Amino acid sequence: MTEKKIIAVVGATGAQGGGVVRAILSDKGGPFTVRAITRDVNSDGAKALKAMGAEVVAGDVDDAASLTRAFQGCYGAFGVTFYWAHMSPDREKAQAANIAKAAKAAGLSHVIWSTLEDTRKYVPVTDDRMPTLMGHYKVPHFDTKGESDHHFAELGVPTTYLLASFYWENFISFGAGPKKGPDGVLALTMPIGAAKMAGVASDDIGAVAYGILKQGPSLIGQRIGVAGEHLTGAEMASKLTKALGQPVRFNNVPAAVYRSFGFPGADDLGNMFQFYDEFEKVCNDMRDVEKSRRLHPGLQSFDQWLAKHAGKIPLE
Ligand SMILES: NC(=O)c1ccc[n+]([C@@H]2O[C@H](COP(=O)([O-])OP(=O)(O)OC[C@H]3O[C@@H](n4cnc5c(N)ncnc54)[C@H](OP(=O)(O)O)[C@@H]3O)[C@@H](O)[C@H]2O)c1
Repeated sequence: MTEKKIIAVVGATGAQGGGVVRAILSDKGGPFTVRAITRDVNSDGAKALKAMGAEVVAGDVDDAASLTRAFQGCYGAFGVTFYWAHMSPDREKAQAANIAKAAKAAGLSHVIWSTLEDTRKYVPVTDDRMPTLMGHYKVPHFDTKGESDHHFAELGVPTTYLLASFYWENFISFGAGPKKGPDGVLALTMPIGAAKMAGVASDDIGAVAYGILKQGPSLIGQRIGVAGEHLTGAEMASKLTKALGQPVRFNNVPAAVYRSFGFPGADDLGNMFQFYDEFEKVCNDMRDVEKSRRLHPGLQSFDQWLAKHAGKIPLE
């Protein structure tokens, strides 16, 4: 039997990295095995990965040396950073640079870097259609990732740039699900007008990443978006209505109103939804559903995702 190649997975106990781990380990006859990276090898999440068959090692994206150690001897890696854990653009950019430097130091053959658009290429900071945030950004959690791509390119790390979409899990755990209005009717509030927005089951991001690793060197240097379906707010509300068995209205507020909601990150997300709306073609051409399906034939539609997860959506 030929020895399996090791893929190091950052964020292995989380959504994207966890999807990579599950995709690799569920393909028993596949070419790869997993080295899961976590800050706490004794956490319940880490133990669950061990039980699934992953090697679990310590590593922290804030600490490049720990990543270099964790990447040693691996064929490839999946890298993701964690903007919402700290909401600091500088920290996220440093984390991305650490992943690139560690990949270079360990001599990896294929890295998948989970990035997003630098929206300032489309909406320069001088463009006042949306506010500039923290002095430098339009959509901070997108821009910092896109701005960090150059680390991988300049260091000559063999990288595929993977662009995720809006996770449908945000309806369960990120506060983005339908909420009851004063009339008692559920409303899905998103400032995306009539645009179709790319969405995805978060587990499918990792499965597409696995498809990219299997396809291998021909995808190095490419930018590949992942989407399960492109849907308007009205279409999502209609599908939610069927799945939840009660009416869900699409509440198309202006982006400025969304930005004013006041929760942490409301301004960032308001700008993001405005970007998805005004640059619908840019976003959706990048996140091609059929291309995603070719890399992961089990790719889920929103209806398929709802059939499994609608019961977990909190209805307040
Ligand atoms: N939500 C969306 O719709 C969406 C869409 C596109 C992109 N994104 C991006 O996805 C990124 C987050 O990925 P995710 O959703 O997979 O994360 P997640 O599910 O929140 O996973 C977080 C995991 O990352 C690990 N982690 C956190 N800080 C770490 C650190 N300093 N060093 C090493 N590991 C660390 C933690 O593992 P341990 O505790 O085990 O160390 C945790 O289990 C964000 O940057 C976000 O902008 C989100």
